[in-house]
Amino acid sequence: MSRLRTIKIRSAGRRARAWTRLLSSMAALAAMALAGDPAAARSGGITAGETHDDNIIASVAAGGRLYDNWLRELAARRPKDLHPLYPETGRHADEPWQSWRCVSCHGWDYRGVDGVFHTGPDFTGAKGIDAMRDQPVGAIIEAITAPGHGFVEVFDHQTLLDLAMFVSNGQITVDEVIDPLSRRARASPGRTSAYFSTICVNCHGPDGRMMPTIPPVGDVARSDPWMALHKMLNGHPGDDMPALRAFGLSTVLSTLAYTQTLPGHDQLASIARGGKLYDDWALEIDRHYPSDPHPVYPSDHKVLLGSSTWRCVECHGWDYKGAVGIRGIRNMAGAHPAAIVNVLTDDVHHMDNFMRFKDLTDLAAFVSQGQVEMNEYIDPVTKKGRGDPDEGPEYFLTLCATCHGEDGVAIRTMPPLGRVADENPWKVLHRMLHGHPGEYMPAWQSTMPPATARNVLSRAQTLRNKR
Ligand code: HEC
Ligand code: HEC
Ligand code: HEC
Ligand code: HEC
Repeated sequence: MSRLRTIKIRSAGRRARAWTRLLSSMAALAAMALAGDPAAARSGGITAGETHDDNIIASVAAGGRLYDNWLRELAARRPKDLHPLYPETGRHADEPWQSWRCVSCHGWDYRGVDGVFHTGPDFTGAKGIDAMRDQPVGAIIEAITAPGHGFVEVFDHQTLLDLAMFVSNGQITVDEVIDPLSRRARASPGRTSAYFSTICVNCHGPDGRMMPTIPPVGDVARSDPWMALHKMLNGHPGDDMPALRAFGLSTVLSTLAYTQTLPGHDQLASIARGGKLYDDWALEIDRHYPSDPHPVYPSDHKVLLGSSTWRCVECHGWDYKGAVGIRGIRNMAGAHPAAIVNVLTDDVHHMDNFMRFKDLTDLAAFVSQGQVEMNEYIDPVTKKGRGDPDEGPEYFLTLCATCHGEDGVAIRTMPPLGRVADENPWKVLHRMLHGHPGEYMPAWQSTMPPATARNVLSRAQTLRNKR
């Protein structure tokens, strides 16, 4: 490696930096060809405490991001067809462009069919790239551009160099650092992590749950530590997430171990928010409904002024049993959230056009776990609550009256609570259990036993109808 340090070019300009990188990569190429010494090539910038040429590490990290998702890293146009080597039954059959990512075939553990992808929806049968570790860059480029591989003329020279640098120098022997059974990082987590608290926190928040487009990073790090490690070492394709490779493997590992202790998905909060989204998702996520009516909403019906045919509740009802001739969602109570997300992204709903990962997850949590059988609370014929208005008055007085007033008329922006409770007790129960979209009103489902909720509802029906 000493050969490389001699050609370090210092410069501030972006262009000059790119050149530095190219030069040093080429030098690495030459060095490896000359040396033929695996030890020299194995540097990889991953052993803590050693010094390395920055540019090699940068090239390896860039190659790691390309390996993860070269389409995003290069902002390339997404292929419409499945990669010829990708099985038609594979995980990405519905999103063909994903089948072109190196990782989709070769895996986050770089071992392809011999690793985590040996079974399940990620199975492709492709071998790993681990046999190419420490191999000369030229040979790797040949393998990448081999005709059957599908990448002839796809990548420019620098891209190929970075990819090859990663394949040769960037691979971790994952079983040495992650226990394959428990999926835990082989490092002690520590109660704090300077790395997480000063770097990751900016984008992922102190508990790793801030980014609505992805699951909590704690969950990701526990369920797919290989992917988390790869991203931590190399950065996230096309984004500003820094690559930690330069800090050395042991540092990155203990950061991974710490990340694995972060809290996961909060199911109760998710259900409650899902209930609000069901009620009025545009209000809850602070956007506008499309101005055209929902194509599936029957044209012989109308929604009230101020509502929208795009609200779940207008088609599926406040009692979840369907409205305007459209079926309800009761049959999906208890269903697997993934099956519900499939419905929400089908040709009828297309909610992925409007919602992010977290919104869809929350809605699915509500549909699966948040629905109640309304007939147990409300007599469907008389519309009367099935509780006793005189029992447990303290609940209404302490939990509701603080905002709504003892008579239910204190909030001027809504009709008297008593009137709403008479006219649409299902809506009142739904909002009592899940809160009011876009407002600070709490959701009471997880804390109020059904009997109490029935009593509070019945009490609300005794309140004044007028101001
Ligand atoms: C759709 C699946 C698929 C994708 C995507 C894919 N490969 Fe491959 N790759 C294969 C298969 C299958 C082989 C084995 C080919 C053979 O043995 O002839 C292979 C072979 C290789 C090899 C040679 C491994 C060896 O030991 O001989 C390397 C290196 C490699 N791929 C790198 C990449 C890189 C880098 C990318 C992304 C730019 C990529 N591959 C994308 C399926 C894929
Ligand atoms: C500058 C912002 C930024 C910083 C800092 C950052 N990340 Fe990220 N991270 C992202 C973005 C953006 C994504 C991709 C989000 C997406 O796919 O929508 C991401 C994705 C991830 C993922 C993959 C999640 C998934 O399911 O796809 C993991 C794991 C992750 N980050 C961990 C970390 C860790 C650990 C740190 C600290 C070492 C960190 N990130 C620092 C922006 C950042
Ligand atoms: C304009 C009317 C309309 C709106 C708005 C609407 N849906 Fe639907 N939904 C339908 C129709 C029609 C079906 C039946 C066809 C299907 O399964 O896609 C359905 C089916 C479903 C099902 C499956 C029910 C079953 O038993 O198979 C669920 C769950 C669901 N919708 C949830 C939602 C959620 C959550 C929202 C709000 C984001 C929503 N829908 C918004 C019309 C609508
Ligand atoms: C922290 C204040 C707060 C508390 C506590 C609170 N609410 Fe609310 N509630 C609100 C706000 C704000 C609104 C929205 C008012 C609006 O629509 O302008 C609201 C709306 C409602 C609605 C919807 C009315 C409509 O027009 O559809 C119902 C029903 C309701 N609350 C019932 C309750 C019940 C029952 C309790 C006690 C179990 C309760 N609330 C406790 C603040 C609160």
